[in-house]
Formats: sequence, C-alpha cells, structure tokens
Amino acid sequence: MKTSKLPIFSRLEVCPDAETLAAAAAQRILAAAQDALAQRGRFSLALAGGSTPRRCYERLRQAAFDWSRVDVYFGDERCLPVAHPDRNDVMAADAWLDRVPLPAANRHVIPAERGPEAAAQAYAGALAGALPFDLVLLGLGEDGHTASLFPGNEALGRTEAVVPVFRAPKPPAERVSLSLDTLNSARRKLFLVSGAGKRDILARLAADPALPAARIHGAEWLVDRDAWPGA
Ligand code: 6PG
Repeated sequence: MKTSKLPIFSRLEVCPDAETLAAAAAQRILAAAQDALAQRGRFSLALAGGSTPRRCYERLRQAAFDWSRVDVYFGDERCLPVAHPDRNDVMAADAWLDRVPLPAANRHVIPAERGPEAAAQAYAGALAGALPFDLVLLGLGEDGHTASLFPGNEALGRTEAVVPVFRAPKPPAERVSLSLDTLNSARRKLFLVSGAGKRDILARLAADPALPAARIHGAEWLVDRDAWPGA
C-alpha cells in the first residue's frame, strides 16, 4: 500500500520545501484560531518545541492578528533554567511571542526549571479548565517521539494530564510533557515535519503503531518533500 494511503497519513499535505511548510502551518493555525474565536470566543494552542516550528512562529509574528483572546500553552519543556537558550519557550518567545501584543497572562509556560515532578504537577493545575486545546502542534523525532514522549519511556504510559519525563534520550534527560491522552484530547493535532533526516521515521511510523507519534489519533500532517518517503 502506498504510504500516503495509510490511515495514519490520511490527512497529509506534502509541501515543496521548509519555507512553504512554515507558511502552510501558519495559515492553518490562523484559520483554526478564527474558527475557535468565532465559535467559542477564545483560541487555545499548544506549541511544539525543537527547531522545525521556528519558521512557522516567525510567520505568525508577521501576521496582522488580534492575539488578545489567544492562549498559548506548550506541549513539552526541557528541564533547564528559565531563559536557557535551549528551552522550547525561549525559542517561541524569540521567534514570535515576545514580538506580538499577546497578553502576558495568555502565555502559559511550563515551569520546567522546578524539575519534572514539581513542574508537571504545577502545569496540570494551570491546565484546569483549559482542556481540550483547540489545536496542538507536534514535532516528530527521528526515533518516533513527539512532544517529550519517547519510545519505551515510562512517561508514555502515564495517564495524568501532564507527565514528568526522566532518562529522555534527547538531551536534556529530564523534561515535562503533556501526556498522550492530553495530546489526543485536542480538537485538532498538527504535525510539522521537515528535512531528509525524518524520511526514515515517517516510513517506519506506518509499520510501528507503538511509536509515540503513531499513537496520536486523527492528526493532520504537514511534511516537506525532503522528509516525505515518497508515494
Ligand atoms: C523537543 C521537542 C521534540 C521535537 C522533536 C523534533 O523538546 O525537542 O519537544 O519533540 O519536536 O524532537 O525536533 P526538530 O524539530 O528539532 O527536528
């Protein structure tokens, strides 16, 4: 069966390159925001970390949009000191959030500097009343992880809203992540996948439903041509 015909990729768009992917992702986020604002008066978005989303966030920075009723959360965070350059919230702030008039109260960062357990507990409290998110952005690791849910890691099986992560294979070893259940509860889930380095894992996902990213149900996929294994 052609990869693109597999159920996991039933809602897939292949973009010519990373820049087009970033533009398509920003467009999809803004459209989801407009729908949510029209229907519910607010839009809640959980951001992906890593490097792929940065170009999309820079596109959002350039958008003429009223951010006053948008709530931004994070799908995961690395247990590093506040303002550490490797934190996911620092990347999002630098690319977008610090450069638009989004009210400070609408930016819900994970206090990962407190360590996995304390931060997970604190963030679960911050999520009270906020679920389900309207949209969750997700990255894909070359081992099939998403957010900070790694293959074979015990965090994957935990059912709290927010989970502590230990012994992550991608540094830092200690992280905080929304749980699989919380990610799946979102009204929409959108993966952004770019680069030839993701080609193998995209091919593997279809064959290995146990991989964390394969356990996100009904997701939309924006993949660039370098990453797509073809047919
Ligand atoms: C992180 C992210 C992680 C990331 C993937 C893809 O903290 O690193 O949460 O899940 O999204 O590893 O990362 P790239 O976009 O850098 O390839």
